[in-house]
Amino acid sequence: MVEILPSILAANFARLGEEIAKVERAGASMLHVDVMDGHFVPNISIGIPVVESIRKITRSKLDVHLMISDPDTYAPEFIRAGADQVLVHQEACPHLDRTLRLIREHGALAGVVLNPATPIATLNEVLDLVDHVLIMSVNPGFGGQAFIPNALRKVEALSCRRKELGLQFAIEIDGGVGLDNAPAIVRAGCDWLVAGSSIFHTPDPGRAFSELQRAAREATLVRV
Ligand code: DX5
Ligand code: ZN
Repeated sequence: MVEILPSILAANFARLGEEIAKVERAGASMLHVDVMDGHFVPNISIGIPVVESIRKITRSKLDVHLMISDPDTYAPEFIRAGADQVLVHQEACPHLDRTLRLIREHGALAGVVLNPATPIATLNEVLDLVDHVLIMSVNPGFGGQAFIPNALRKVEALSCRRKELGLQFAIEIDGGVGLDNAPAIVRAGCDWLVAGSSIFHTPDPGRAFSELQRAAREATLVRV
């Protein structure tokens, strides 16, 4: 089933619980949490105490996107804080195989992220170790950026590769996703669409979530 993951980076942090409730009432069951360290990416966002607090108010799956330089040190901490799914950047992991195994050993689903400039072939040797692969459709660090169209080609290629290998990992996309491009993203083979601004920077986040989910799910009917 195609899923929309609201990215809380675009929410009003002063009212985070209420913002989360709005999208959950509309049917959201996974929340995307962007962790930035001001080192791997040129921005600082939220950390372990915020994940702990969110964990207490939701049963949704927490999809924690680590944009940090030292994921091996912190991934276990985020899992202890309540992350269900941890995503690490290929570019931040010299020992990616070890990092993915570490995440699974700590009881979370293991995801890997590719920046726009990183080819999918860099994952050839670890595709059987991942539960989800996230294709960045912006350069990470900020919400509200324009979608990079080449991400569609990467999703298509990864979807073909998944079929060839007979694997089941989910394909996720993050950055610049909205009503305008969601159908094409799904038709390319994507399962999970992260959306920040197009949900929370609207007058009615619940409604924006529902519209995006409907558009994405309808597109599965004409999937290639
Ligand atoms: C960007 C983050 C995204 C961001 C997406 O580095 O990884 O998750 O929140 O925001 P939008 O949907 O506004 O592009
Ligand atoms: Zn993200």
